[in-house]
Amino acid sequence: MTLADLVRRHRVVISAGSGGVGKTTVAASIALWGALQGRRTAVLTIDPARRLATSLGLETLGHEPREISPALFAAQGLAPRAPLSAMMLDQKGAWDALVHRYAPPDARERILANAFYQHLSQTFAGSQEYMAIEQLCLLVDSGDYDLVVVDTPPTRHALDFLEAPKRIDDFLDRSVIKWFVGPSLSAGWSALRAVNKTASFLLHRLEQATGVSALSEISDFFASMSGLFENFHERIERASEVLRGDGTAFVVISSPEEQVLGDAEYLAGKMAELRMPLKGVVLNRVHPEQEDGPGTDPDDAAAVEALVARAVGAKDARGLVANFVDFQTLARGEQLRIEQFRDGLPERVPLVEVPNFSHDVHDLAALAAMHAHLFADADVVAA
Ligand SMILES: Nc1ncnc2c1ncn2[C@@H]1O[C@H](COP(=O)(O)OP(=O)(O)O)[C@@H](O)[C@H]1O
Ligand SMILES: [Mg+2]
Repeated sequence: MTLADLVRRHRVVISAGSGGVGKTTVAASIALWGALQGRRTAVLTIDPARRLATSLGLETLGHEPREISPALFAAQGLAPRAPLSAMMLDQKGAWDALVHRYAPPDARERILANAFYQHLSQTFAGSQEYMAIEQLCLLVDSGDYDLVVVDTPPTRHALDFLEAPKRIDDFLDRSVIKWFVGPSLSAGWSALRAVNKTASFLLHRLEQATGVSALSEISDFFASMSGLFENFHERIERASEVLRGDGTAFVVISSPEEQVLGDAEYLAGKMAELRMPLKGVVLNRVHPEQEDGPGTDPDDAAAVEALVARAVGAKDARGLVANFVDFQTLARGEQLRIEQFRDGLPERVPLVEVPNFSHDVHDLAALAAMHAHLFADADVVAA
């Protein structure tokens, strides 16, 4: 199995991994490949770098998927055989849309105007992750796409994404909600704390998580939301179903640095536990080792120095050579770590390497240039 096979055989591809490793870039590149191959594709990006957003036609906000105009492709010499739509996750907008979809009509405005709701929808731990999953479900259920590629939020802990549905579900657990809408609340925080240890613990957590201490706001929020929760639980079930479905492939993006690889390994283990198995790995920003030629053995630095000195003069030769030897040592270390990482992966999980380019990857042509590495074995549609 190759990464190309993997993408071809799945309807949903989720790029996961630690922050800064290239999740957003790789997600966009995979989506572009899907469209070039003739699949109607959508990519959900989160916090894309500004220039990437611009090249995807996303400079204006809006939480609807938008087709990238053929002119943008043509300008970069690309001709996708199916449309590529891109959207940026707008967390606040996504929560509001959720309220609009699921809250009883008479409660909508009250929820939207509620200070606690506003806080929750913007800062609740896991809420951005949850909204990404919610959007993923909408894209999948729309039936408009053959391939949906999802970027994950730039959290330090990639696990947050996997656990978000459960966390929100726990948070909105009905027994908890009863506490907030129950009559005991009228007595205020302190009375409530004194009454019940569990309630006191929950309230403390809530205050900590949100910084909102106006009990009336919170109570009102839960009262207005109770109609929504019924439907919401089903949404969460649907989200788990999509994440765990056979048509969904988690691809872990990692760099070859020791610590990042360690995180990726941990993540892979957790994914298996949560029954959202890792199906592919992209090692991004790898420093390629020079396979042969003079100086590929760090020990013959002196010989290379003599060689380089002939070309650039003795003065510059030493620095250049030292640099080259360092690079080779780095590249070799990376290869060793990658081998080790590969050994720990199940046999059928494809692993591809993408080199560290000398430039940022922020336009469609640069995204297409990644295909030669991501899908080296497949027919790469030339830029
Ligand atoms: N293979 C690569 N070579 C060079 N730069 C890269 C490569 N992959 C990603 N980048 C750059 O690294 C930065 C971070 O990538 P990004 O996809 O935003 O990471 P993440 O989404 O994981 O935080 C971006 O500026 C991107 O252009
Ligand atoms: Mg990102």
